[in-house]
Order: sequence, then C-alpha cells, then structure tokens
Amino acid sequence: MIGIIEKVVVECLLEAGGDELRLDAFLKAGIPNDRVYRIDSHYPDEETQRLIAATLEVTGLSEDALFKLFSARFFEVIAQVFPKFIEMAESSEDLVRMQAKIHALMASGTRTPEGSSETEDKFTVEEQSDHHLIVRYRSHLQLCGLYIKLVEACAHRFGDEVVLEELTCRNRGDDACRIRVKWTAIDGVPTQYASKDPSAVSDRRA
Ligand code: HEM
Repeated sequence: MIGIIEKVVVECLLEAGGDELRLDAFLKAGIPNDRVYRIDSHYPDEETQRLIAATLEVTGLSEDALFKLFSARFFEVIAQVFPKFIEMAESSEDLVRMQAKIHALMASGTRTPEGSSETEDKFTVEEQSDHHLIVRYRSHLQLCGLYIKLVEACAHRFGDEVVLEELTCRNRGDDACRIRVKWTAIDGVPTQYASKDPSAVSDRRA
C-alpha cells in the first residue's frame, strides 16, 4: 500500500490524542516509533491493517466514526499532494468515475520486479450510466466501509448528494464488494434519483 492511507491515519491519531496516542498505536501495531509514512513509498498491506486496528483500539472510535474522520482529512491531503486529480474533476461524479483509473495508475508505479501490484485491479467500474455507477472492490484489506465514507466525503466537498448501497460484500462472504452509487443532486441540482420527499434530502445532509 502506498503510504497515503497510513499518513492520513496518523493525522487522525495526532488529532485525537497527539503524539502520545500515535506512539501508543504504533506500539500496539508493532510499528517502529520513528516510522514516517511517505506517499512515494510502499508499505505492506498487513502493516496498514495492524495500524487501522490499533487506531480503532486506542481511540475507542467505531470503524464508521474513524472512516468518517479519515475521509474528511483524506481529501485535504489529496488536494495538497495530488491537486491535479481534484482540479480535473468538475463534480464528485467525475472524480468517483476516475477513481478506479487513478488507483490503477498509482498501482503501475508500485509494481514489484515480478510485475505484480497489490493495488492493481482492486477497483473496477462494472456498470455506469448518468449519475449512477456500480464499482467492484476486491482487496484483502476489506475497506469497503472506507470506500463508502470517501465517496460521501467527496460528494460533500463538491456540494453534491449521493446515496450508496452495498450490493455484495466480502465481509458477508461474497467474492467481492459491489457498491452502487447514485447521485441525487449535482451542485444543488436534483438528478433523476432525487427523492420526491424533501425531508429525505435534508436527512442525508445532516
Ligand atoms: C472518491 C474517491 C476515492 C475513493 C472512494 C477512494 C477509495 C480508496 C480505498 C477504499 C482505498 C483502500 C484500497 C485498498 O487497499 O484496499 C484507497 C487507497 C488509495 N487511494 Fe483512494 N480513493 C479515492 C480517491 C483517491 C484519489 C483522488 C487519489 C489520488 C491520488 C487516491 C489515492 C489512493 C492511494 C494512493 C491509495 C493507496 C492504494 C494502495 O497503495 O494500495 N484515492 N482509496
């Protein structure tokens, strides 16, 4: 895994409890005290897994709460280190449609000499039409909950509204996670998926 996920998890730890909490999490995860995650380096997925588990333990946050905190931070970091990806997108729909390609691109930079890459093919857009897509996500990290929170945060950043549904899930024993995303509003303009009930929209924004 490229160090961006770890870097953002460390920022969440620092925000929640300063360096003391970070050290606590590193100790529990068996990560050296002085590890500084870099976005141009590759770290074993198992380490990412241990770091996330230790972060949940030391912060006492639920997975949902941690992923929400993470997602708000993630786009701040992306806007700083990879601004082009954000600038290229006119809406969250654009960015989410590009997401699988962006990840495959990142993967090509982290190929091992044997030619394999842990990132490659984790995401595939299986179906797409106006304001709708189905993404297949298959990774032994099983971060589909994070995918969902990232899409919600991405929509929030662009002022768009989405509803997500997990059609299949590896955590429930399926072969892969399949996530349906529908945009109910783009830049304040309702789409064909907008609910006819106005209270339903304000509920989602809360
Ligand atoms: C809404 C948009 C996005 C979503 C939903 C999303 C989702 C995710 C998820 C779920 C992972 C963990 C994958 C795994 O290892 O199992 C991940 C990893 C990653 N994401 Fe994104 N992402 C988004 C946008 C971006 C953008 C714009 C960038 C730009 C650089 C980016 C860069 C990365 C990188 C570098 C990783 C680490 C991948 C690896 O090394 O395996 N993501 N993303």
